[in-house]
Amino acid sequence: VYNYFGYIEKKLYCEEVSILNLASKVGTPFFVYSKKAILDKINQYKEAFKDYDTLICYALKANSNLSLLKIFEENGLGADIVSGGELYKAKKAGFSSNKIVYAGVGKTDFEISYAISENILSFNVESFMELDVINEIASKQEKKANVSIRVNPNVDPKTHPYISTGLKKSKFGIDIDQALDAYKKAVKLENLNVVGVHCHIGSQIMDVSVFREAAEKVVDLVFKLKKEGIELKFIDMGGGLGVKYHPDDNPPTPKDLADAIIPVVKQTGLKLIIEPGRSLIAEAGALITKVIFLKDKQEKHFVIVDSGMNDLVRPAMYNAYHHVLNVQEKDEEMIADIVGPICETGDFLALDRKIGKVERGDLLAIMTAGAYGSSMSSNYNVRPIALEVLVDGPNFKVIKEREDYKHISKYEEEVL
Ligand code: LLP
Repeated sequence: VYNYFGYIEKKLYCEEVSILNLASKVGTPFFVYSKKAILDKINQYKEAFKDYDTLICYALKANSNLSLLKIFEENGLGADIVSGGELYKAKKAGFSSNKIVYAGVGKTDFEISYAISENILSFNVESFMELDVINEIASKQEKKANVSIRVNPNVDPKTHPYISTGLKKSKFGIDIDQALDAYKKAVKLENLNVVGVHCHIGSQIMDVSVFREAAEKVVDLVFKLKKEGIELKFIDMGGGLGVKYHPDDNPPTPKDLADAIIPVVKQTGLKLIIEPGRSLIAEAGALITKVIFLKDKQEKHFVIVDSGMNDLVRPAMYNAYHHVLNVQEKDEEMIADIVGPICETGDFLALDRKIGKVERGDLLAIMTAGAYGSSMSSNYNVRPIALEVLVDGPNFKVIKEREDYKHISKYEEEVL
């Protein structure tokens, strides 16, 4: 069903590595990623955009494990960051500064100063006030900062409201009808280089026509700017391509995305930037968890596992569907809520889900957990952050050690 995850003699494998063996070596819970699945996606993107001058900037927020970042960097991708911490990690993984773009509505003075000193390709600026602040900080460093305006094209991506970002009522970007004013202001500021235009309309988008719609609005703006004598170097169309969460989902491919936006962007001749996150990494990862208890109440069966909203918050936060596979295939089935150990009613991984009948100690794989899984995890209930493993053919490598209690409370112990 899922790329590079499949059964051999009723046991689930990631590439050529048995998940059961892996769990016996590293314990649970853990995230496992298939390197081949990641490389496949990278190549699909590169192939789809090869005929147009495009920089593919991986959105670190989807998953910022350094070993995974290295894979993207080694394959020529750039980085899309949203914080000083992500900049630090991007540099650590080796991304060159002229391939780093930086978005976010709330960049602090420290973060702005850090990014200016690293000479990044562009700040994606989200407010008029931010333009002034970047200008001021750049002048202190006696530098010019590269900026693009993040415009809000007011396109409905038809996705979950929490991850729609391009609508007028959202906190992101500058409304496209105010964009001209923002550019006029920016070109007057001495320590700014105006280099591009940016938009990101939302995430988990299943219909690429909304990307075309957004691109058309952005291209209109580019022509308007040109008339005013403001020339840009690139158009950044953000990320947002959907992935397969349910086995019946049929998400668009990078080629579909390219076919939707390149013909529109081409009219300007400007270089293209895209910022995919989820679609590069989501399907390459699974969260492996162990059944601790079974509990039958009058209304429901519960399968209680050793991982929950602390490792994967998407079901709790967005009511998101993640497919669940038994690591050891079973003959009998059951319907249950698969819930975590966290003291919250919202702490579930799946509700009323049909799975193979499990026993205490069995393992479950929560699929499509490569994006916004580990990167959104927390220490709630003082639970250690999960370990992470990268599989490559018959080999595997721990790419994040399991956190221990000492580490979780380190900064509190130091001041006790
Ligand atoms: N660029 C910008 C400016 C963004 O805000 C985002 C995601 C991306 C790129 C990458 O989008 P992607 O290709 O991953 O869809 N936590 C949510 C998703 C939040 C996405 C926020 N922005 C979830 O788990 O569904």
